Amino acid sequence: MTMLKKLLITGVGGIGGVNFVRALRLGSKMLGEKLFIVGTDYNPYHILFPQVDVRCKTPKHSDPEFIKTLIKLADKHRLEFLHPHPSVEAKVVSKNQNIFEEIGLKTYLPRPENILPDKFEIYRKMKTHSVPVPETFSIKSLNDIEESFKVLGKPLWIRVRVGAGGKLSLKINSPEEAKLWIKLNIMQGRAKPQDFIIQEYLHGRDIAFDSLWFKGKLITSYSRVRLEYPFKHISLSGITGTPSVAKTIHEDKINKVGVAAVLALDPKPHGFYSVDIKEDDNGNPYVTEVDGKWHTTASLWGYAISKVLGDVKYNLAYLYLRLGYNEEIPDVPQTNLFPENYYLVRQLDSGVILITDKGEFREVL
Ligand SMILES: Nc1ncnc2c1ncn2[C@@H]1O[C@H](COP(=O)(O)OP(=O)(O)O)[C@@H](O)[C@H]1O
Ligand SMILES: [Mg+2]
Repeated sequence: MTMLKKLLITGVGGIGGVNFVRALRLGSKMLGEKLFIVGTDYNPYHILFPQVDVRCKTPKHSDPEFIKTLIKLADKHRLEFLHPHPSVEAKVVSKNQNIFEEIGLKTYLPRPENILPDKFEIYRKMKTHSVPVPETFSIKSLNDIEESFKVLGKPLWIRVRVGAGGKLSLKINSPEEAKLWIKLNIMQGRAKPQDFIIQEYLHGRDIAFDSLWFKGKLITSYSRVRLEYPFKHISLSGITGTPSVAKTIHEDKINKVGVAAVLALDPKPHGFYSVDIKEDDNGNPYVTEVDGKWHTTASLWGYAISKVLGDVKYNLAYLYLRLGYNEEIPDVPQTNLFPENYYLVRQLDSGVILITDKGEFREVL
């Protein structure tokens, strides 16, 4: 008998959502399971991308109708498991978890306060738990800017406390630049005066650590160094959210900081957590972000590696789904899930390729 799983996935049209659905489809094919997927998105164009059975446009996550729409869809299609992909949607779903439990819709999510946390709160939590973090000032008035340059030197890194994809971040060389940046963004309605933080600028490697946890236990994780961002030449900060080239690494130092960062955020992690690490000139790692969310390419990495190596154990999205259903998963290591020195190369309209450092090349999409 073929197993059938009936899923509701939100934000399926975003790059991360498309990657997540694609990975689930591959996992189900490799295991001979069937999936019925209802996908939702706010964007009427992007919702056309993912391989879902039913598409439904939802209101924005902040609209009270968002949760009601999900309940209606679950009821209409007798769905069993809800995965909200974008962090803003995951946060409201996590807040309303008991409503979904009552109607028999399973979720596998961190607590809402651990999804999309405030960056200054992250700084405080890391400090409390002695996890290395760049020295950070929260800017309450323009005078705090002078103070931060006096104490931290230059250049510095400015950004808003809440938001993803490097939101309103910029390398700044003087208090004048910081003031102009803040003023312009306030004047154009993108931020409020209290929204900004300023921290030490870290010149070293840009690293991501992704990890899957179940009731406080680390199930598996991997790390990679980001080598290129798309369209960096037409963005002021050079950070455009998700990298176009990244390479898997095996480094105990990074794994240790990644695990410590997740536990400092959440003593009993449950679900998927991502950590961003930036190194200084001497290769010392510092945590810039830890969040109970999926990095955009985490499920794409799982898709690419499990497809090329022919083993479902690499498929993080599928491992997550099975754990969410309380099912057995294959044996996986707690760290370094993927082999090292694989490059994932992506470009708009050009597909995705996986290369090893020996030059072996596979087109995966
Ligand atoms: N203090 C810093 N110095 C230099 N670059 C930074 C610093 N903090 C963040 N960055 C860069 O900006 C990217 C996005 O920042 P991150 O902390 O991950 O927040 P988010 O992804 O929520 O915007 C990081 O991956 C890193 O490349
Ligand atoms: Mg980040």
